[in-house]
Amino acid sequence: MPSERQPTGIPSVDRLLGGGLESDSVTEIYGEGGSGKTLFCLEVTARVARSGRWVFYIDTEGVSVDRLSAVCGPTLDEVLGRLLLSSPKSLDEQGRAVATACRLAREGARPVGLIVVDSGTFYYRLSLSGPDEDDARQALSVGVADLVVTALSAHVPVLFTNQVYRSVREGTLEPLGGSFLNHAAKTILRFDRLPGDRRCVVLVKHRSLPEGAAEFRITPTGLESPGGPPRSGPG
Ligand code: GTP
Ligand code: MG
Repeated sequence: MPSERQPTGIPSVDRLLGGGLESDSVTEIYGEGGSGKTLFCLEVTARVARSGRWVFYIDTEGVSVDRLSAVCGPTLDEVLGRLLLSSPKSLDEQGRAVATACRLAREGARPVGLIVVDSGTFYYRLSLSGPDEDDARQALSVGVADLVVTALSAHVPVLFTNQVYRSVREGTLEPLGGSFLNHAAKTILRFDRLPGDRRCVVLVKHRSLPEGAAEFRITPTGLESPGGPPRSGPG
């Protein structure tokens, strides 16, 4: 039986993903600053919350309420009413926030439709090349494992954004977070900046789909396929 999908509402991306985000696994998004990772998370958040399910949003970057407001328009209050936002200030706090979100999602007392961790590697990055690097890698892995188990057992899609570093040897942008994350995430998307408001989504890894790419545009009120406005509708 095919995995359930959570549509993103961006037709080009949903086509690329065979209908949307897999509901029983972690989707990792990596890409340079300004490539649209956070905007994408907000877009899916608004869609899921409007469908009546809760969203746990773990934000390490200071999410833009202005942008959420622009994406939601008149449905802002409805979305805020289904959003549980936490803003950890360290990797330890991030770990506790992830553990809480996962526990509540698995308990199922309220319907949870999405867990977002954005950026999942902001605090981890600060520990790299320092005395706490091994502990940080372990803490990140524990949190990612919790997210994997939760997605699998509670059928809650997870969006986990990841920062990048430039490989000096290859000259390419590579994801942080280590090999554990890149195995644990069953879908991996790379967001690339194109000129102006255009962005490219590259499907780097998927359990059941070939590699591929799609485009979206950033507009003042949301993300759109190159050809038109976002699809409305439930789910
Ligand atoms: P980091 O968190 O820094 O890694 O970046 P990100 O990938 O999360 O980027 P984010 O989703 O925050 O996207 C920010 C980008 O969207 C910037 O390049 C902004 O210029 C662009 N942007 C934001 N609002 C608008 C808008 O209304 N119109 C257009 N065209 N671009 C916008
Ligand atoms: Mg961001």
